[in-house]
Amino acid sequence: MNDTNDIFNAEFSRQYDASGERLKDISNNLHSLISLLLGNLASDARVLCVGIGTGTEIVRLAHQHPGWRFTGVDPSPNMLAVCAEKLEREGLSDRCTLIEGHVIDVPEREKYDAALCLLVAHFIQHPQRGGIYQHIADRLKPAGQLIAAEIAGDMVDPGFDSQLKNWVALQQAYTQRERDISEVKAELSRRLLLLPPRQTEALLLDAGFASAQSFFQSLLIHGWQAIKP
Ligand SMILES: C[S@@+](CC[C@H](N)C(=O)[O-])C[C@H]1O[C@@H](n2cnc3c(N)ncnc32)[C@H](O)[C@@H]1O
Repeated sequence: MNDTNDIFNAEFSRQYDASGERLKDISNNLHSLISLLLGNLASDARVLCVGIGTGTEIVRLAHQHPGWRFTGVDPSPNMLAVCAEKLEREGLSDRCTLIEGHVIDVPEREKYDAALCLLVAHFIQHPQRGGIYQHIADRLKPAGQLIAAEIAGDMVDPGFDSQLKNWVALQQAYTQRERDISEVKAELSRRLLLLPPRQTEALLLDAGFASAQSFFQSLLIHGWQAIKP
């Protein structure tokens, strides 16, 4: 598994939430739909959050569902430190367990009703994503669901550059800083592995999910709901 702790270092972790402002319209929409998709879970559901980062998804869902319990796992101690402070501030710590590591470090004995893996998989520079979807499926109850969202696209498709142009326009609208498309493309290739959406769907089915339903796309961010048989 490639290491991303150099990206999610102490300085970046502290300003992660503020830097996410540029994606706030996309993010609000994504999180509202996630609340809708998870709305039928039991009142005492257990939710696994893979790549929890600074805890955005836990905070939103925990306030909506006072009986849910959460496990967040993330390899970055710096992101987890910010997350832990936030959970404490929000009065949510007693319902949350944080684990420094990867999904395979989450004990398999107690199964989860649902898992979230938001804006994580594109950092795994492996065409099979290092088995992350399989490791998540192994930790879900029967009929448990995974909500996955990631930056996706077919970078060799001739149409990709026009999608990227819109993506860059969004960033520029917030930063007021001109970006060259080819520079952004090189940066994406260096740090991320974007897969065509259909490839992610195939990986989810290969991991044993019975279905992988696309429920979201906003610019380059795609989201799926995958249900375990
Ligand atoms: C862009 S942040 C997303 C955080 C949060 N899920 C959100 O939506 O705001 C990506 C997070 O994934 C974590 N990460 C990177 N590789 C990972 C892996 N293989 N397994 C789990 N988490 C990983 C990083 O440390 C980072 O905290």
